[in-house]
Amino acid sequence: DDLESLAAAVDGTDSVVAFTGAGISAPSGVPTFRGDDGVWDRFDEGQFEYGRFQRDPAGFWEDRLELQAVMFDEEYEPNAGHVALADLAAEGILDGILTQNTDGLHREAVRSVTDADGGDRRTDADSETPILELHGNSQRVRCVECGQRQDNDTITERVEDGEVPPRCECGGVYKPDVVLFGEQLPATVLQRARSLTRESDVFLAIGSSLVVEPAASLPRIANSTGATVAVVNLEATPCDSIADVRCREDVTEALPRFRDAVDP
Ligand code: OAD
Repeated sequence: DDLESLAAAVDGTDSVVAFTGAGISAPSGVPTFRGDDGVWDRFDEGQFEYGRFQRDPAGFWEDRLELQAVMFDEEYEPNAGHVALADLAAEGILDGILTQNTDGLHREAVRSVTDADGGDRRTDADSETPILELHGNSQRVRCVECGQRQDNDTITERVEDGEVPPRCECGGVYKPDVVLFGEQLPATVLQRARSLTRESDVFLAIGSSLVVEPAASLPRIANSTGATVAVVNLEATPCDSIADVRCREDVTEALPRFRDAVDP
């Protein structure tokens, strides 16, 4: 099949970059944003706009607790898709994992693969394979005044105990360390993502509807700079027309097959 042929053609010197969206975490139990039962069917995007946070941080945090209860209601773990990418990273084949997800599952998978290996393979700490979380990380919050970071679980408990909005010792309000609607993506992370994309020989767009920025343009940048673009998704996407390989398959089947077919 196409994905296996692509894997077989990957040369050791090729730069392979994976770009992921909510679909890679769906088999772990994290809901997607769009489609049946999507998060944006149950919530209004306006509740989570940056402007709303600034105007009404207390109301924002109350809604945020409900969103967290839906999105991260259980202990979720990396699935075979995350693990396949972590294996490719450990083998030095992946040059970057770029993700729109804020669930931290790519980091966990890379950690678990490294631990299982006795720690002698590459880790993200070596920054051999950067994991770029373009939309931030839901496991952390950040003070809008002094920038201090805290564990989201700790702050969530304080909100549940009635501290709305939760505040840092400096008096500043804590904000989830994620990119809200109407908020700019961190410029340096975005620049790095774009340059890894331009330098890639193989660009895999995995489990994303590819309708919002920067997802809508990264596969096109890869295509315009000569990369072979593969779209792995259960459904058609707007980037299928520029894709060299279209794989309509569950990530937990497609990605292990791709990994097994790549010759390190
Ligand atoms: P979406 O919910 O828009 O798209 C998820 C995609 O994954 C869909 O195209 C599904 O067909 C596909 N999919 C679902 N399960 C799959 C599986 N098991 N195997 C393969 N594909 C599967 O999620 P994103 O594209 O990540 O932004 O959404 C992008 C951004 O929009 C999110 O980061 C979020 C949202 O608003 C912010 O919160 C800033």
